[in-house]
This record gives sequence, C-alpha cells and structure tokens, in this order.
Amino acid sequence: NWTPDSFIETTVNELKAKLGNDKVVLGLSGGVDSSVAGVLLNKAIGDNLTCIFVDNGLLRKNEFEDVLHSYKDMGLNVIGVDAKQKFWDDLKGITEPEQKRKVIGRNFIEVFDVEAHKIQNVKWLAQGTIYPDVIESVSVNGPSATIKSHHNVGGLPEKMNLKVAEPLRLLFKDEVRRVGKALRIKKELLGRHPFPGPGLGIRILGDVTPDKVRMLQEADSIFINGLKNWGLYDEVWQAAVILLPIQSVGVMGDERTYENTVALRAVTSTDGMTADWVHLPYDFLAKMSNEIINKVRGINRVVYDISSKPPATIEWE
Ligand code: XMP
Repeated sequence: NWTPDSFIETTVNELKAKLGNDKVVLGLSGGVDSSVAGVLLNKAIGDNLTCIFVDNGLLRKNEFEDVLHSYKDMGLNVIGVDAKQKFWDDLKGITEPEQKRKVIGRNFIEVFDVEAHKIQNVKWLAQGTIYPDVIESVSVNGPSATIKSHHNVGGLPEKMNLKVAEPLRLLFKDEVRRVGKALRIKKELLGRHPFPGPGLGIRILGDVTPDKVRMLQEADSIFINGLKNWGLYDEVWQAAVILLPIQSVGVMGDERTYENTVALRAVTSTDGMTADWVHLPYDFLAKMSNEIINKVRGINRVVYDISSKPPATIEWE
C-alpha cells in the first residue's frame, strides 16, 4: 500500500544506510524531480549533500535568482554557478538543433564536473531520475532518439567516476509530485510546467545570441505571467514562446519597423508523447500579443501555434 509518507520514511532510511557519512553531489535544475530528490536527500544526510545549480544563460527571466532563493529557503546546501558567458560563447554561430543540444549538454557536464570536484572527498552523484526516464533511456537507440536526443546529461555519471544514487527511479511523475507535497515543497515549484534541459537554446531558432535570449526572456515572462494571472496556467501542460528567425515589416507610430516574430505555444498532454494545442481565449491571446509587441524591443509580430503532436513536436527544435 504505497503512500507518500511511507515512501519518504523507507527511502530516507535506505539513503542513510547506503550513504552513511559520505559526501554527495546533486545537480538541481529548478524542476520538480531534482528538487524532490534534493529535499529527500537533505532529510537523510543533511549538509553532506551539496547541490549545484548552473545558470546556463538559457533559463527563464529571473529564474536563476528566484529558484536559488527558494532552494536556500528550503534549507538546501546549494551552490549557484554563473556560467552564462561560457555557454553563450560556445553556442556562437551554431544553428543545428542537435548540435546545440550537444554543446549545451557538454558544457553542463564540464561546469558541473569542476564544481563537484571542489567538494572534498565527494563519493556519490545523486540524480532525480524517475521511472519514465529509466524506460526511455533503455530505448535510447530506438526511433525516438533519432528525432531528438532528450537525455542531455546522459554522459555525466561515466565522466565523473562517482557512485550513482537515484532515490526516485521507481516513481512516476504524479507520485513524485505527491512525495513533494508531503515534503512541503511549495506548490509553485511542484506545479511547474516541464522545461527542457537545453532551455531557451532550443526555443531560439537559428543561432543563439545574448540579445535574442533577452528578447525571448521578456516575451516568455509576459506569456507565462499572463497565463497565471488569467487562471490558465494549470489548465496547460506546457507553454512556451519561440523566437523565429524571421523579420517582417510592421508599423510603430509613423515609423516602419523590420523586426522579429515570436510564436506562442500552449499544449495539453499527459506524458509529452502526444499533445494537443490549447484553445486559449481570443481575449487572452489579444492581450498577450499587444503586451509583447508594446513592451519587448525587437518584436513586432506574434503568432499562435495551432499544431498538434504528432506530426508537430512540442518544441520547434
Ligand atoms: P518534443 O519537442 O519532442 O518534446 O515534442 C517533448 C517534451 O520533451 C521536452 N524536450 C526536452 N527535454 N531535453 C529535455 O530535457 C531536450 O533536449 C528536450 N527536447 C524536448 C519538451 O520540452 C517536451 O516537454
């Protein structure tokens, strides 16, 4: 008879027995899985757990500061690493989506590895792997992997030469959320939409530049906050803004503009394998379009993506 409380009790005891007095490192992403893993491990071994949260320069607006702050509030021993410039430098001129994923994944491993080895005597790498990840990586050479390589940091354990602890590896997502709730993790964190590891890097079609990141962060923040303010956020499984590599003509006052287009995307889904676009209210879309065009320098056109998966995917890259 599985309950979140019994799972927590058993797992904390198992972790104590397995890890003893060893030092453990965990990468936090701001997502549900790694956060729940962090709080569980912290309960078991306290400050012998060091968490690392990397700013890859491809996070949402203010995400790094906000999330780092809530991790500290939760009592986690967390190190924030500002690696924005390194990621941006390495992404310069790269346009091919899989190539971007490779560069981002490789940089993450490099940054994480350096930080992790600053911890004296670290023995374990903990990961927030959940059951669907275990299943998916078994079929990593199957047809899905040739479409998009989602497992951005798959090479991490091999590279680091540490023992691996994965306390959530038998849980499904809804169970992870229930465990998180029982651990009193904030609702805003547990209810977050999925966000891809390569972040805004695969939502900027074409090459990534700091100015495009700025533009996309602004537009994305208007859309996501809009969904929250209109009570629509929890109706949507995932929402995104995509910056297209297209300029078009517009008019602003009596000036001609020749600027960028963003696409808004909102889908419902259960597992991300299939998805339907959400029939967002026209009034809401109108408001978002106005706000984005008026407030975000460099954007003069907003379109709404009405494609379902399949045949379209959720992300555009
Ligand atoms: P697609 O675009 O394949 O996305 O329909 C399905 C789900 O997977 C997420 N996604 C990724 N997650 N690394 C990740 O961690 C990736 O490279 C990646 N690509 C897509 C996507 O956001 C959606 O939730």
